[in-house]
Amino acid sequence: MAAVWRPGLEGVVAARTGLTDIDGAAGRLYVRGYPVEELAPAASFEEVVHLLLEGERPGGPDGERLRAALAAGRRLPAAVLDALRGAVAAAMPPIEALRLGIDALPLPDPPDGTPLALVAATPAIAAAYWRGLRGLAPVEPCPDLAHAAGFLHLLHGRRPSPAEARCLETYLNAMVDHGLNASTFAARVIVSTRSDLKSAVVGALGALKGPLHGGAPRPALELLQEIGTPDRAELVLRAHLDRGDRLMGFGHREYRVRDPRAGVLADAVSRLAADRGGSRLLDLALRVEAVGSRLLDEAKPGRGLRANAELYTAVLLSELGIPSDLFTTVFAVSRVAGWVAHGLEQQAVDRLVRPASQYVGPPPRVWRAAAG
Ligand code: CMC
Repeated sequence: MAAVWRPGLEGVVAARTGLTDIDGAAGRLYVRGYPVEELAPAASFEEVVHLLLEGERPGGPDGERLRAALAAGRRLPAAVLDALRGAVAAAMPPIEALRLGIDALPLPDPPDGTPLALVAATPAIAAAYWRGLRGLAPVEPCPDLAHAAGFLHLLHGRRPSPAEARCLETYLNAMVDHGLNASTFAARVIVSTRSDLKSAVVGALGALKGPLHGGAPRPALELLQEIGTPDRAELVLRAHLDRGDRLMGFGHREYRVRDPRAGVLADAVSRLAADRGGSRLLDLALRVEAVGSRLLDEAKPGRGLRANAELYTAVLLSELGIPSDLFTTVFAVSRVAGWVAHGLEQQAVDRLVRPASQYVGPPPRVWRAAAG
């Protein structure tokens, strides 16, 4: 069969998954069959993790067991805390410190506990490192708090309001898995070699941090900050497009319409802001979305470049008081559950991922020893 090279593997089916289904033309996302608009604002993150790992939402005592396992896993072992102290001394970017912390995490024995251990430790590492950078000790985890609320508590050192916890939980649920995105593909390739799930998460973190993937919300926030007020949206966005820049928070490989997660996140911020007299940043982002969509239609007609989840991630995490240096790390707090769920699927397939390459170098030639 003649091999066809597609630089970004567009249209190449490289895995089968029962986790999420994306309809890019209609702008729909289903998590195990549930529309993201229904699931994300209503479910607990624990329920979503169970749905991904076990196929169904938890019944009976399963939910309590899972919640307890995640709460227990937020207590970090000494090896991880030591690694984070080294990272603080080196002032590593938080996403790199998370990678180091995950790598230092001892694997549970038996390894059946690995998926939940990875999901549980990710927010604890993120929070402990962030506090360490600012000279603060890690917060003692509260076992009675659910995962989303527990993360905010570990980060800020205070129990979040129910509205704040719900807002973050909606974000975690919305971002938890998304087909064969770059970091998930990286995780599956690693698992396909019969390497372990921890290595898959470490590799996935390396893929996530790039600005075309999980690194987008910080530059998206910087764009909103540069615009400043809704009346400047057109001026600033046009200037970026005239320079040939990509508008961060717009466009998606899969979607030709608005990313459905953008709406879920915007609604979550709007509910959070209702008690606070509104959100200036959300109003600005909505205006930027309208103007950006129109300008991108002019610049790239027919491409359907619309707001993606990262535009409203920037707004949501900012409204929760999470600094932009941590945005990609918080994405990982959610997506780690998707990575391990894909890892388990890949383990079941047990087939080495080893695509072909098309050779474009010099033709065969003779190597002669250099004279003299
Ligand atoms: N602003 C301006 N032009 C754009 C944008 C954008 N945001 N996105 C795509 N284009 C242009 C692109 O330059 C290309 O132009 P040309 O045909 O003249 O070379 C055309 O539209 C088609 O783009 P593409 O590169 O084929 O699209 P893609 O499917 O490879 O890119 C993307 C998807 C997300 C990398 C891209 O839209 C992008 O760079 N967006 C900005 C970064 C961003 O917001 N990333 C978050 C993605 S969503 C969450 C996640 O996956 O983590």
